[in-house]
Order: sequence, then C-alpha cells, then structure tokens
Amino acid sequence: MAEKESHIKTTLEDTNIYPPPEEFKKNANINDPEIYKYAEENYEEFWAERAEKLDWYEKWDKVLEWNPPYAKWFVNGKINASYNCVDRHVENGKGDKTALIWEGEPTDESKKLTFSELQDEVSKFANGLKELGVGKGDIVTFYLPMVPELAIGLLACARIGAPHSVVFGGFSPKALRDRLQDSKSKVLVTADGYYRRGKKLKMWENATDALEGADSVEKVVVVDRLERDDISLEEDRDVYYHDLVEDKSTECEPEKMDSEDMLFLMYTSGTTGKPKGVVHTTGGYLTGTSTTHKWVFDIKDDDMYWCTADIGWITGHSYIVYGPLANGATTIMYEGSPDYPDKDRFWQIVEKYGVTVLYTAPTAIRLFMKWGKKYPERCDLSTLRLLGSVGEPINPSAWEWYRDVIGSGKCPIVDTWWQTETGMILITPLPGLTDLKPGSATRPFPGLKADIYDAGGKSLPANQGGYLVINRPWPAMLRTLYEDPERYEQTYWSEYGPDVYFAGDGARVDQDGYFWVVGRIDDVLNVAGHRLSTMEMESALVDHEAVAEAAVVGKPDDLKGHVPVAYVILEGDRKGSDELAQELRAHVGKIIGPIGKPAAIRFSEDLPKTRSGKIMRRILKKLEAGEDYGDTSTLRNPDIVEQLKSKLE
Ligand code: PRX
Repeated sequence: MAEKESHIKTTLEDTNIYPPPEEFKKNANINDPEIYKYAEENYEEFWAERAEKLDWYEKWDKVLEWNPPYAKWFVNGKINASYNCVDRHVENGKGDKTALIWEGEPTDESKKLTFSELQDEVSKFANGLKELGVGKGDIVTFYLPMVPELAIGLLACARIGAPHSVVFGGFSPKALRDRLQDSKSKVLVTADGYYRRGKKLKMWENATDALEGADSVEKVVVVDRLERDDISLEEDRDVYYHDLVEDKSTECEPEKMDSEDMLFLMYTSGTTGKPKGVVHTTGGYLTGTSTTHKWVFDIKDDDMYWCTADIGWITGHSYIVYGPLANGATTIMYEGSPDYPDKDRFWQIVEKYGVTVLYTAPTAIRLFMKWGKKYPERCDLSTLRLLGSVGEPINPSAWEWYRDVIGSGKCPIVDTWWQTETGMILITPLPGLTDLKPGSATRPFPGLKADIYDAGGKSLPANQGGYLVINRPWPAMLRTLYEDPERYEQTYWSEYGPDVYFAGDGARVDQDGYFWVVGRIDDVLNVAGHRLSTMEMESALVDHEAVAEAAVVGKPDDLKGHVPVAYVILEGDRKGSDELAQELRAHVGKIIGPIGKPAAIRFSEDLPKTRSGKIMRRILKKLEAGEDYGDTSTLRNPDIVEQLKSKLE
C-alpha cells in the first residue's frame, strides 16, 4: 500500500492519478512526449515510418489517398501479412524463438510453436486449402474454439490471399449460416468440439446444422480436438484437418498482395438485425496493429504476452495474432474457462509461462474481484510488468483492484478504447508517458484526432457529455461494409459529414484532455464485452409463436456491465409464466447463441409508445437502471410506465 500512496495525486475531481513509474519510463519503447507533436504535424510521414518496419515486396507510391469516407493506405504497396508475421522472423534468425503458446483447458495439454514450426504449419495448411480449391479472393469461414489451428488458419489464409471470416464459436447455427451465406464462403473450418469447464462440448452438430442452406460451402475442414469423438463426416465434402495437412509440403510461397486487398471480414452487431461485414485490408491494418501493439504494450523481445480474448472477436485478430506476430513477439492463447479446474487458472497460467504483459476485459476483472484475492495470491505474479483492459468502460474500483492485486501496485494499466471497425487501438495511454486516471482511456494515439460533438456537430467544451468522433483516417480503419457501401456511409459517415467518423459511443473529455467513454448510444448492447444487437434479440423473440411484440434493453449489471432484459407482449390472450420465460430465453439462445439470452423476460400488456406507435426503449432503459425517466406526456399510453415501474419494485 505504501508504494501506491507514494505516487497518488488528487485532482479537483478527486481522481487518483498514476504517473508512469520511473524505472518503467526509463526503459519504455516510447518515452518522449514529442512523439505526439511530431505525429500530429507529420501525420503521413509518421505512419510511413511505421509501415517501413514491415517487409514490403514493393513500396507504396502514396501514403494516404482520402476520398471521404473512402481511404486507401500505402497505395500500390505490395505485402503479405503471413510473411510478415512468420517468415521474416525466421529469416532474421529468430526461427527458434517461441511464436505461439497454446494452453488447453485440461491442465496437461499445451503446445509451443517456434517461428520455424509456425512457418511449417501455416504453409502446410495453406497448401491444404489450395488443394480444396481455395484461391486468392475466396472467403474462408472459421467456426472454431480456441485451438492453435485457428491462429494457424488465419495466417494460412493470409498467405494465399484468401480473406478469412471468423465466427465466434459460441454463436448459434443460424448466426453461422447467415454469415456463411452473406460472405458466400466456399470453405468452412470447424471442429468436432472443445473443452469447457472440464466437459466436452460439441461443435460439429451446430456446424452441420448451419450448413443446411449455406449452399456456397463446398468443403468443410474439421479439426479433431476431441479425438474424433462419435461424429460422422460426409465423404465428398468433409475432411479432417490432420488428414488434410499430413502430406502437405512445408513450402508455400506467399502471395504478393496489394496493400488494399481484403485481409479479412469480421461480422459485428449493428443497430439493425443484420450483422455488418466489416472489411479490413492488408497493409494499413498490419501497420496499425503492429505499431499499437509495440507501443501500447511496450513489447520487448523477451516479453511473454497474453491476451485473454477469443480469436472470434477483433481483439483476438489484432492482438493475439496479427499485432504480436508481426512484431515477432511470443503470444499465448488459452482454450478454456477462467475457473477450471479452479478459480486461479489465469494466475496459474501467468506463473507457468512467466507472463509479463496481460491484456484482458473489465468483465473478467470484476469476476476475479468477486472471487477474491486468495486466488491470485496463491500464484507468483511477479513477472507481470504491464496490464491492459479492453471492451467496455472499466470502473475505477476494478481498475484499482487490477493494479493493486494483480499488478502488485507497480504495473501501469493501459485502458484501450477501440472497435471492430477501428481495427486497432485508437484511444489509449502510452505506458511510459501517460499519467493514468482510473476509468479513462486517456488520449488518442499519436497523430489521431478525436472529439466530442453535440447532436448538431458542434465540438463540446470540457466535461460535457456528447458523441465520440474521430476526425482523421487511420491505417487500420474499416474500408467498407462487405457488399454494402451505402450502409458503410450511412452508419459511420453521415451523422456529421463524410470526414468525421461516428463511433456510436457516448463520451466526454475532461479538463486535461482525457477521454471518458460511457458506452454505446445506439441499439447495441455491450454484455460482458460482447457486442450484441438489441434488434437481433427482438427479432429472435418475435420469431416465437407466443410473442406479439418485444423490446430489449440493457440493464446495468455489476459483473457484465449490462445484461439484456426483454419486455414481451404475448399473442392473443396468452399468459406469461416462468416456463414460458425459460422457453423464450432458450429460444433466443438458440437463434443467437448462449451469450444473447435475456437475463429476464418481463411480460406486459403494453409498452410505452409514441403516438406514432414507436416503442420508447429509452424509458424502459431508465426504468431498468432505476433512473428518472422524465416526461411521459408525449406518450400514447403514459400510464403504462407507472405500471411497469411498480412491477419492478
Ligand atoms: O462501446 C465501446 C466498447 O466496445 C465497443 C466496441 O465493441 P467491439 O467492436 O466488439 O470491440 C471490442 C474490442 C475492441 C465500443 O464502441 N469499448 C471498447 N473498448 C472500450 C470500450 N468502452 C470503454 N472503454 C474501452 N476501453
């Protein structure tokens, strides 16, 4: 405790401020504050210098071509992401360095791949994909648990110029089918199952269910994680991963890709039911993720870096696979649950591998807080030197706990704000430079400009809440939405004009220029760091024969940030019951996946509506938060609000 108190300063807001510890600062990759000024004044040169750290077949003619809202970075440059993440490190004499550590959930299972071994595995799988008919531009969908083949598969696709589309393994067959259809994938890579909390869970049934109606899929690769447990394959369509790669060559020449060729597609929830296919391209994405990884996490050659995200989300793409491997860092991936076999599993992993940099989510930190100190205290966490947070706002008490209990009061914490669409971290501390305030993601990354606007597009003064915008293009930004440029323009670039990126988050900037992100302002819910569309849940509910109308809103939750709560009007004279509530929850779980299940179903005769019949979700949200819901006189049915409120009490 004494150490903590020695560098606390208090502001008018009574927020603790933590400057970088002197030792850390001295050795940090970035410790000269001039970097902000330099990047601001020389924006394109700044990024060109960063891109030069990668290996290009042909250099670009132009750093940035910005025809708002369309950007091209490193125009006409030729590059391969797989080569940059794997081969070049082997060629630079780091072939024997560990690239990837995989820790299975069963405690006796783990794997280490050096960069040379990774090169072999990636090339073999790439050759296997080619044999299945995958070529440049063909989209390959992955529906896998956290197994090494997922990281290898991404790099194999990148090697042959086939964009990947990873669908989170917890999503439902319907969600997978929609994404296979939208992307017209030729090949699906999936698994028989995986381990979760000590149990074998099946994945193959979901995958085969999803394939019904996904007509573009010609071939399916099945990773046999559970030693070929009782599943049957279709001979002409399906092949086991290990059989596919067994006899393949370890040589596979990487394709020379254009900087602007699509590297991957990642579906994410938006404000309508239909997920958006976010398109990321090659040169800019790799430049943005490798730079931010190196600077934000202060990565050195001997670091043991662990990001606990799932590769099914953008965090895993950018900061388990591409960023770390482009930097030649050792990256760890873990298959399972944080409480198997006991609630100290994360800390056992930190001790086992001597993790130095840990990147996780506030929802996990709050869970660890609830479980108590005794679990981390059982393990040696002294190797940790830097901690990261991502996915949702971190409440200051969780921040302080993370710092004190996990980081023994000495590790800086980088609270990183970004999105699937931004591809890379955009608002973040640089740990050797930035004074930290618990709960604030601090400042935009060097060269970037962010601001808070009011509804009319006016930049707001300090400490006034408004909409978060980004005022400059950045290399890893999304280029479009897959086959839907109108939706791209309309969602991100129409609110304030085509050169202002509308993030969809509410935020404020304080008197020191620090950003405080509050959360989504649209119909997107952030549940335990997972992004879900309330519209998608509502359409899943009305898909059930008993439901006439539904409205889903987020209710604040101590652990998960928010949980979805569904207000439901039943068909005809049907009556709500506990059984029906369970059935509806299960129904949504089946359509979206377990993470989409509403925490509660509230049956109601009516819902607050405007005179034109629009459901006022804002009022329901306030009711759930226990906040004042304001004036209801413009409603068609103002009495319903009081009724709903009294039911909640
Ligand atoms: O609301 C913000 C929240 O997560 C959203 C992006 O979700 P997704 O695309 O799934 O990507 C998550 C991982 C990058 C944002 O619009 N968010 C993310 N990081 C933070 C955050 N909110 C506050 N603080 C953060 N550090």
